[in-house]
Amino acid sequence: MTILKLRVLQALTVLCCLSLSQVHAQTKIVGGVKSDPGAWPSAVALLNKPLADGIEAGTIVSSLTGLPLFLVSEANYQSQNCGGSLIDSKWVLTAAHCVVGEDNTVIAPETLYALVGTSDLMSGGSRITVKSIVVHHAYNSQTADSDIALLELESSAGDSTTDVLGVDPAVDTIATAIGWGDTTADDATTSYPADLREVDLPVVSRADCTNVYGADFTNNMFCAGYDAGGKDSCQGDSGGPLFVSDGGVFKQAGVVSWGTGCAQAGYYGVYTRLSQFTTWINTVKSGGTYTPYIASSISSSVSAGGGGNFWFGFPLFIIMLVLRKLIIGTKKRN
Ligand code: ARG
Repeated sequence: MTILKLRVLQALTVLCCLSLSQVHAQTKIVGGVKSDPGAWPSAVALLNKPLADGIEAGTIVSSLTGLPLFLVSEANYQSQNCGGSLIDSKWVLTAAHCVVGEDNTVIAPETLYALVGTSDLMSGGSRITVKSIVVHHAYNSQTADSDIALLELESSAGDSTTDVLGVDPAVDTIATAIGWGDTTADDATTSYPADLREVDLPVVSRADCTNVYGADFTNNMFCAGYDAGGKDSCQGDSGGPLFVSDGGVFKQAGVVSWGTGCAQAGYYGVYTRLSQFTTWINTVKSGGTYTPYIASSISSSVSAGGGGNFWFGFPLFIIMLVLRKLIIGTKKRN
């Protein structure tokens, strides 16, 4: 009976850790370096507000055994799940896929904080609540086409803004991607930094990117990276900026969007092509009239939602079955 109890607690403890690590998996640069604090003042970390509010810095989360399971060192760190950039004192530019759920609906603005003014998730900066979310009307969650959204902030985040480059950067221009995303190329391991990181990546020709991604590579995207791999943005960097120098001033040319794996040889990172969206951005931030995003019903539950739920739900179901068997089996023997 004691052994059984221990086993149950062990299983539950594992489950607990799994679900908490999942929180961060949603969210993180491979082959890069830590950015100098203050180097990218327009960088924004998007936090899941309930998580950021619920987990106090230094909280010891106790497991069901009563023993401390682990130390949650910082709420901002635990709750960061995407990047963004300040393009105006009250507007954050990010990826649509950061704010549109699997059912294609836009998340509630009150579930987000924009953490501005710090490169360190563990200290400094200010958390600003979000007043409204504007997703581009042509965003398609199945194809990640037009992967762009703007967050209107509840209060001013100051004037450390970045300009959007209005044209396509030339092929082979060295661009810089920044973010708090996964630093490991390997799919099986993840490592999320507390300090903002950056990596330099050459802009890839449209022909080369088409060769790699075929029809998945649309007119609203561009690629950056190395054919040999090794350097890339990765999970958790999404929504964050890709900068290029325009006469010595960094301007944003892309938004981290997607890629096959991270830093894999033969693949590039795909970025939202901001030259296609400058009019849209200016219209939205100046309060003009824009076409609203309507959650389409085409793609909702079948592959996206259903798949995600299945892969979380199925192992859980199996664990429950095993637990049930253990309990019933023991009772019989008793
Ligand atoms: N979609 C990812 C995210 O949500 C970003 C992936 C970027 N991948 C890449 N290989 N550059 O964080």
